[in-house]
Amino acid sequence: MSEMESVRLKDRVALVTGGAQGIGRAIAERLADAGATVVVGDLREPGDLGLGITWQPLDVTSATSVQACIDRIVELHGSLTIVVNNAGIMFEQDFETHPEESWNQMLAVNLTGPFLVAKHATPHLKVAGGAIVNIGSIEGFSRNPDHVAYSASKAGVHGLTGALAVDLGKFGIRCNAVAPGWIDTDLNASYVDDHPDRDEVVRQLAQLHPVGHIGDPNDVGDVVVWLASDESKFVTGQVITADGGRLSRPPLPPIMGS
Ligand SMILES: NC(=O)c1ccc[n+]([C@@H]2O[C@H](COP(=O)([O-])OP(=O)(O)OC[C@H]3O[C@@H](n4cnc5c(N)ncnc54)[C@H](O)[C@@H]3O)[C@@H](O)[C@H]2O)c1
Repeated sequence: MSEMESVRLKDRVALVTGGAQGIGRAIAERLADAGATVVVGDLREPGDLGLGITWQPLDVTSATSVQACIDRIVELHGSLTIVVNNAGIMFEQDFETHPEESWNQMLAVNLTGPFLVAKHATPHLKVAGGAIVNIGSIEGFSRNPDHVAYSASKAGVHGLTGALAVDLGKFGIRCNAVAPGWIDTDLNASYVDDHPDRDEVVRQLAQLHPVGHIGDPNDVGDVVVWLASDESKFVTGQVITADGGRLSRPPLPPIMGS
């Protein structure tokens, strides 16, 4: 890490929801590398996160929990200047038998969560101007089968991003999103690990990506750091896709060598 890198986000205090593992953890580490004071808000307490990163209990579906987490961060660190809405869940469900309860659960975590966190963080973000970064998905643009609730929630996150940029710009608060493609985390590991021919799955997944491989959590973390920093100070309301080019290449029939 260069000296320049470690001061990029100096004096910023960041909340990363769902940062105990996976993409959120990599985002937390990248923000801390860039000099921010980072608090991970998650349902479960992670082990030692290193880099001075701390944890506060948080359930993004509960306004009471969100308010308590943000109050505690401001009490401990004096401010809140960066919010990363990363916590999310995903499951598959046939549409015709989709229980209303699981639809509501997906929307509560993936969409109402970012709404609640942004809402309760806004009074603090207003103080010195801040940045909200939401984690959407390429499934907000393009859908896998049986992902009705997930796709709807992520399209909602993309819509929320633009709406918050419009409403909060006057306070010096920017709001952007990252739409990751296939990133190697627990969220989708079972799709690969449970397959009888794991190596072939890995090979075919790599082939879907013009860059020749799936993503790493740090690939998302690096984009988040840029969106949280002053280097992107004229960028707001945007959804930045980080997918190794996957959405840029519509599939051809296999016989044509796609
Ligand atoms: N992994 C991918 O390929 C991929 C692709 C596109 C988008 N995403 C999005 O990135 C984000 C992170 O995904 P990941 O792969 O790291 O997932 P993950 O399952 O590895 O981690 C999710 C984290 O969120 C936390 N969490 C879940 N519900 C919560 C709640 N109610 N309150 C607080 N924390 C909660 C979990 O405890 C966990 O630490 C999600 O929003 C996901 O939709 C992931």
